[in-house]
Amino acid sequence: MNPDVLVTRELLPEAMAYLRERAVVEVGAAGRDLTHKELLSLIADKKGLLSMLTDVVDRDVIDGAPRLRIIANCAVGFNNIDVEHARRKGILVTNTPGVLTETTAELTMALILAVLRRLPQAERFTREKKFKGWALDLWLGRDLAGAQLGIIGFGRVGRAVAQRAAAFGAEILYHDPVRLAPDVEKSCRAVFLPLDDLLRRADIVTIHAGLTPHTRHLISKERLALMKKGAVLINTARGPIVDEKALAEALAQGRLWGAGMDVYEREPEIEDALFGLDNVVLLPHIGSATYATRLKMAMTAARNLIQGLRGERPDNTL
Ligand code: DGY
Repeated sequence: MNPDVLVTRELLPEAMAYLRERAVVEVGAAGRDLTHKELLSLIADKKGLLSMLTDVVDRDVIDGAPRLRIIANCAVGFNNIDVEHARRKGILVTNTPGVLTETTAELTMALILAVLRRLPQAERFTREKKFKGWALDLWLGRDLAGAQLGIIGFGRVGRAVAQRAAAFGAEILYHDPVRLAPDVEKSCRAVFLPLDDLLRRADIVTIHAGLTPHTRHLISKERLALMKKGAVLINTARGPIVDEKALAEALAQGRLWGAGMDVYEREPEIEDALFGLDNVVLLPHIGSATYATRLKMAMTAARNLIQGLRGERPDNTL
């Protein structure tokens, strides 16, 4: 039988087994992303697409798949898909919200602490056998307790970070297009601020917004200049929200004390200047990367896909 579903990249075994019991599946390239050309060719006769956040599902892909009923993205973010165009063509689009909240918040906390306490640098120093004994001024970092943490994007992940950082003794400031009701703000112990005020006030700024035309380069050169001298920037959301070149300049000039990046403007490329800087911690987009969470993401996407193929409304329809 001809495959009716394209999974662009092999999922974890449990999710592949689930799909194979319910559909005839074709898997894209092994161990790498499909090129756009390959995606166009493989999707042409399929009814379902299970995509990764690295697949660009644009108009051409959508228009080139006349039988397509559902695009199930294996990610909570969906900036890689032309959702409006898919909707116009009656194609369902789904994502995987909820299942990666805690894991991404944990990684964000790890990154905040790694930057504040200069953990990668201190670990390298130790590994290089440079540790010659305790010293009062050895690898001095900064405290999270008592710091003002500014959270941009106060959805699921933003709030999960707030909860954890509050337990560390940080004061929570937030900015979001939708302000919380006063009682919710109180229960989150979070203070709303307009974006520019938050940038002026926070010691640490962490980004948890989705990527939209409105948030692309939201943290521009001008906005970086608003940040307190010595502040820290963390991004575990989407790279293009930050002007990466401008960030590298701010770090090189020492205007920012440090940064922690899990995502980049042109992944997998990274602004070259960042590699030469010691005050930035660079991770390879692993915010949700625990086995349990990646499996939940894959199973959620697989279930959404099958629901869509069966003519049901998938749980996570956008
Ligand atoms: C997502 O799901 O959007 C995350 O970036 C994956 O880690």
